[in-house]
Amino acid sequence: MNPTNPDGIMQLAMGFWGSKTLLSAIELGISEQFPWSSYQRFADVGAAQGMVPVTVARAHGHLKGIGFDLPVVRPMFEDFVGENGVSDRVKFQAGDFFRDELPKVDVIVMGHILHELHRCRMPGLDARCRLYADARRAIGGA
Ligand SMILES: C[S@@+](CC[C@H](N)C(=O)[O-])C[C@H]1O[C@@H](n2cnc3c(N)ncnc32)[C@H](O)[C@@H]1O
Repeated sequence: MNPTNPDGIMQLAMGFWGSKTLLSAIELGISEQFPWSSYQRFADVGAAQGMVPVTVARAHGHLKGIGFDLPVVRPMFEDFVGENGVSDRVKFQAGDFFRDELPKVDVIVMGHILHELHRCRMPGLDARCRLYADARRAIGGA
């Protein structure tokens, strides 16, 4: 995906918003199956409108979440988070996961972004491996 093409990005993000009935099952699974009580802060990388952070934050009142996505997505994310009453604990952080450091948190969620990465051209290093390595660093791993 081209991060400088706002129309393409919004289409993708809105497309996922549109299919939220299917996604709700996934997000409920993430929210219910993961041991969130052991953690305080999480970030959803490529968060789109914020369905994952909203679902997780609503279910676990102790958590603080970040939606990390390209700047153009911010209004859509903040509207959705506001409508769901978790703006005090779920914030947007603008960034490009190919260029910018990921938020320093306890848990990184990446949903429906890795499948796109094989299309990227990153000389010398596979994009997927680099993103995994960045995520490890962000949660304090080596
Ligand atoms: C297919 S959607 C996935 C949305 C959400 N994670 C989910 O599972 O429902 C991909 C998201 O990744 C974001 N994205 C694409 N390239 C990005 C980049 N280089 N940096 C940050 N976010 C990016 C898009 O803006 C979009 O919101």
